[in-house]
Amino acid sequence: MSEPRQPFTLMDPAIHADPYPAYAWLREKAPLYRIDGTPPVYAISRQADVDRVMRDHQTFASDLGMHVPLMSMVMMDRPEHTRLRSTINKAFTPRAMQHLEPRIRALAADFASALVGRCEFVAAFANPLPVTVICELLGVPLSQRDRMNRYARDALLASFAATGMGSDELRAEAEQGLTALMDILDGAIQAHIERPRENIISALVRDEAAGLVSRTELRHLCALLLIAGHETTANLIANGAHHLSRHPQILRALKAEPGRIAQFVDELARMAPPLQRIMRRSTCATEIAGQPLPTGSLILVLPGSANRDVERWPDPDRFDLERNCRGHLGFGTGIHVCPGSALARLETRIAFEVLLDSVDDIRPDPERQALPIVGYGAGSLGWNSLPLIFDTP
Ligand code: HEM
Repeated sequence: MSEPRQPFTLMDPAIHADPYPAYAWLREKAPLYRIDGTPPVYAISRQADVDRVMRDHQTFASDLGMHVPLMSMVMMDRPEHTRLRSTINKAFTPRAMQHLEPRIRALAADFASALVGRCEFVAAFANPLPVTVICELLGVPLSQRDRMNRYARDALLASFAATGMGSDELRAEAEQGLTALMDILDGAIQAHIERPRENIISALVRDEAAGLVSRTELRHLCALLLIAGHETTANLIANGAHHLSRHPQILRALKAEPGRIAQFVDELARMAPPLQRIMRRSTCATEIAGQPLPTGSLILVLPGSANRDVERWPDPDRFDLERNCRGHLGFGTGIHVCPGSALARLETRIAFEVLLDSVDDIRPDPERQALPIVGYGAGSLGWNSLPLIFDTP
């Protein structure tokens, strides 16, 4: 393999848009790769190492030792993490998720009815479906839905900016969005204290009343769910539509046998997981890939790379509907494994069941360019804009 001039940097837009050639280089040439900076960050890319770091939460902590405006459980360790996680687990039971199916299907059918001819898929379908679902689960009024996208991105940027990257102006703008998001969530929390309903926010409010979580923790949990709950799922749905528009044989196979759509969703989460960058910090001197790693090192964990490691996955770059993809790391593993994965899988499966039932074909729009998510802070693999053509019967 020829050595690229810059095999891996955090800010390269070309790597954000298509990280896979750089990942292949990392896995083969530099499985523990030091990205210079203050402080330096060590990227790890092989399946065995990524799996080990995610599972060994004692050696590899999630608390990075920095204060960010949204202190969520993603950045906490035991015992605080266990306490908050049990509140989340109570709200995200398989039974609670099952009950959502009819409502998600009705929403998907509604958004899909607008997909005729030329459409911008992200704005028309991939985004509004998960935003509406998470807003309903959190009891956020629908009138606020359109602002949620911007606020959620601002909240992420504000946290990212707090790590020292990005300009002061960007940070100030992002923090304004975060404040606006928190105001909306405060309204929803108050409304559910006064009148609890059968939704996730009511379950969280009950735990606050029982003294299991504080008000600050409750607010941050709601914000985390809102952020984690929609952008990732929107990207998975958009990545799936992008794939089908380029691989008509898979679209035909799924139309002929819709029962395979669940498998399609999991292979998609292996091949193109929306969350591409996860951070950890070493709590003691250790080694990774046979090389020493000092205490306190920041580690950039790359699940998208692990999911393409040939040591674990035969023919890893091939999208294979027959593959047993259990054990892929697109939803993480260990104590921080995604608690929303059942919801994300449910939404994405229903999205494609509804879409494939209502269209004959999905094609790229040759006249408009698809715009991948790139730029400041891009840890997501997905699309800002995905123009497609929907052929309907
Ligand atoms: C395709 C969609 C999704 C993907 C790819 C995804 C991926 C992930 C991954 C990889 C992690 C682990 C992070 C780490 O180890 O530090 C995670 C954590 C988390 N996810 Fe998801 N997620 C998705 C959807 C959702 C949804 C729908 C929700 C909730 C509504 C959600 C809520 C969370 C929360 C609360 C955590 C933190 C868990 C913890 O720290 O214990 N995610 N997600």
